[in-house]
Amino acid sequence: MAVFHFRGKKLSGKLRTPSDKSISHRAVMLGSLNRGKTVVREFLRSEDCLNTLKAFVELGAEIDDREDEIVINGKGKQSLKEPFNVLDLGNSGTSIRLISGILSGQPFYSVLTGDQYLRKRPMDRIAVPLRTMGAQIFGREGGKYPPLTIIGKRKLKGIDYKSPKASAQVKSAVLLAGLFTDEPVSVTEPAKSRDHTERMLRAFGVDVEVDGLTVRLGKNRELERDIEITVPADISSAAFFMVGAAVTPNSEVVLREVIINPTRTGILKVFERMGVDYEVFNVKSSSGEEIADIRVRYSPNIKGIEIGGSDIPTLIDEIPIISLLATQAEGETVIRDAEELRVKESDRIKTTVENLRNIGGDAEELPDGLIVRGKTKLKGGKVFSHGDHRIAMTFTVASLITENPVEIDDVECISTSYPGFFDDLKKVLNE
Ligand code: S3P
Repeated sequence: MAVFHFRGKKLSGKLRTPSDKSISHRAVMLGSLNRGKTVVREFLRSEDCLNTLKAFVELGAEIDDREDEIVINGKGKQSLKEPFNVLDLGNSGTSIRLISGILSGQPFYSVLTGDQYLRKRPMDRIAVPLRTMGAQIFGREGGKYPPLTIIGKRKLKGIDYKSPKASAQVKSAVLLAGLFTDEPVSVTEPAKSRDHTERMLRAFGVDVEVDGLTVRLGKNRELERDIEITVPADISSAAFFMVGAAVTPNSEVVLREVIINPTRTGILKVFERMGVDYEVFNVKSSSGEEIADIRVRYSPNIKGIEIGGSDIPTLIDEIPIISLLATQAEGETVIRDAEELRVKESDRIKTTVENLRNIGGDAEELPDGLIVRGKTKLKGGKVFSHGDHRIAMTFTVASLITENPVEIDDVECISTSYPGFFDDLKKVLNE
């Protein structure tokens, strides 16, 4: 248990929040399939990403972890070996789902598992298309939950997959499996999810075409480049300090080198519409992604809005912290079309609403989202993170404005995405 109370302090200064989790995972995965040298700088050394790294070491990839950079001497996509042990992906949904795509194209037996939370997360969303492509995938409860067993094949079948969900993990699993067939492979989503896999595959030399909501693999499916990837700061981590500054009197923070890929910046659109005082500047490009510095100032006059539809995938991981922001807005904020939140690291609709109420907020669950009524005085109280890093960070930030302390049962989970969170908080927490 940890107790926080930062009321009366402000957030000020500059931070380079940790590197992007999605891009760090993909850099190691694609680097391990590459025939060539991949250098990854600013890799996110969080538990989730280190679990991906460990899995590829167990799969025989030649990885030299020099701490400040990771060098992968890739021997091509056919070079992976049957792992001697079960691959334990900890808390990481992205790892297990994307690696399943890659293992579908490997002619060997592997078993993938994770922590008590990951073992409850649905895997049929990837298993269904990957089985259609020819992989054998088994799991608990009729193949739905980890541990998963995968027996892949050197040559898979093609697929034109109409994904029922806007999910980058599903899209990526199919595209990665698609590297192991010459037949047509495409994925069509109902709304655009983050496109880091497509961008990075291209950077490695793979032909990828994008046509509206459809992504198609072209003729060349070999990764054959010497490549250097510098991972930008994760907007999903920066978001905690962005919202912290917006709700805390006298605050002004600058978050540096944050990824501003349009599939990730839904929170900035929300800021615009709610009236948060923010600015995006120093826009640059880095390893195929746009990055920028983001300044956010205390914003006492924000208003509630409706959030839904195709904006949801662009801010899916920021909904808990946006809900905290909504407690300080004039009027109601209604978030819909976000039923995916029910199967994240926790049921985030439930854990966000319950904990907002626990600290004196006025919030209500919807089947596919939540309603937050604004201008509430948050009192503080007991919070249960349910092992979910983003819930633990959201309610740590809440303690900047609660009358009384916030007690959080488990904050260890924060290290899955943001091991230096409390150090960074200390850096910008000022009198
Ligand atoms: C991720 C995709 C999203 C996101 C997760 C990371 C990725 O999940 O919530 O934190 O790196 O592909 P879904 O694809 O399940 O929406």
